[in-house]
Amino acid sequence: MNTNQTKGFTVNPHPKNKRLLVATLSRKIINNFCKKVAPYSVQSIEYKPFLRFHIANCLNQETSNTLGAFLLNTIKERGTGAVLLQCESLEKEVLNNIDYIDFNILLSAAVSHLIGVPNLDSMSGKFYARFSVKNMDNSDSYLRQAHRRLELHNDGTYVKENTDWVIMQKMIEVDVDGGESLLLHVDDWQDLNKFYSHDLAKQDIQWGSPTSKNVGYKTYHPIFLNENNKNEPRMSFIDQFAEPLNIDQGLYLYEMGESLESESNTFGVELNEGSMLVINNYSWLHGRDKFVAKKNLHRELLRQRGAFVENTIFEEKAL
Ligand SMILES: [Fe+2]
Repeated sequence: MNTNQTKGFTVNPHPKNKRLLVATLSRKIINNFCKKVAPYSVQSIEYKPFLRFHIANCLNQETSNTLGAFLLNTIKERGTGAVLLQCESLEKEVLNNIDYIDFNILLSAAVSHLIGVPNLDSMSGKFYARFSVKNMDNSDSYLRQAHRRLELHNDGTYVKENTDWVIMQKMIEVDVDGGESLLLHVDDWQDLNKFYSHDLAKQDIQWGSPTSKNVGYKTYHPIFLNENNKNEPRMSFIDQFAEPLNIDQGLYLYEMGESLESESNTFGVELNEGSMLVINNYSWLHGRDKFVAKKNLHRELLRQRGAFVENTIFEEKAL
């Protein structure tokens, strides 16, 4: 897609990695979107799934139907596969009296429904999950723990649904130093061929999850999933939830984790409040750097995970 033909938003490569495209929605687009979605509460889009598509269409129409095509084409394209979507302004008058948090939820719901359908998030029981990272945490995974690095991984390893894409949105940030999002495209991993050509690359691994995830079953799949094309390995890996059943699997996974964590092509991305990363989950690994300890540290995040829908109308509107 020729990004010169986008309407109401600009697109630029991220300074740290040109695979990541930075899309900025103009004040006018945000303001018009807010006016159109003002009648709808967060509760109404939770209760009525079709409203989520309606607000997605509202956003898309404001961009002359270019945003949906841009997002879908970029996320599906192997060479890119990631968008940092941000707003030019989140001033009160631009949001047209919509509550700031509500606006964030409505916006990311619109975005997710332009690229497919979100999976039910079993941690929240909704199509999205909100969670906080604070200075203290006693949960049962590394998701909310501030003082350690959240290692590179793919989402959805332990659920049955396809997890083609992930949206990670930052809503609130207070007293934060550090904690950048970490990203690595699979093709930028220098040890990819070593692990992709290994005997265990296509062997099923068992995956489970801790109690807080509310998933009561195991899944079985290899690290490297069926490729669309021969030279485009797709990954589904996370260190915490792989359950190796023999020493060969254990050592393969251990070495993979060590290699990924020492990869120099991994880069950090700072997200402003109200911005979100939209990434192809099988061609990008993501993580989070550790935070500097601060007493009032608080970050409020929203995530959605979902699947592409075949024959979506937006895909056919190639520009
Ligand atoms: Fe994740």
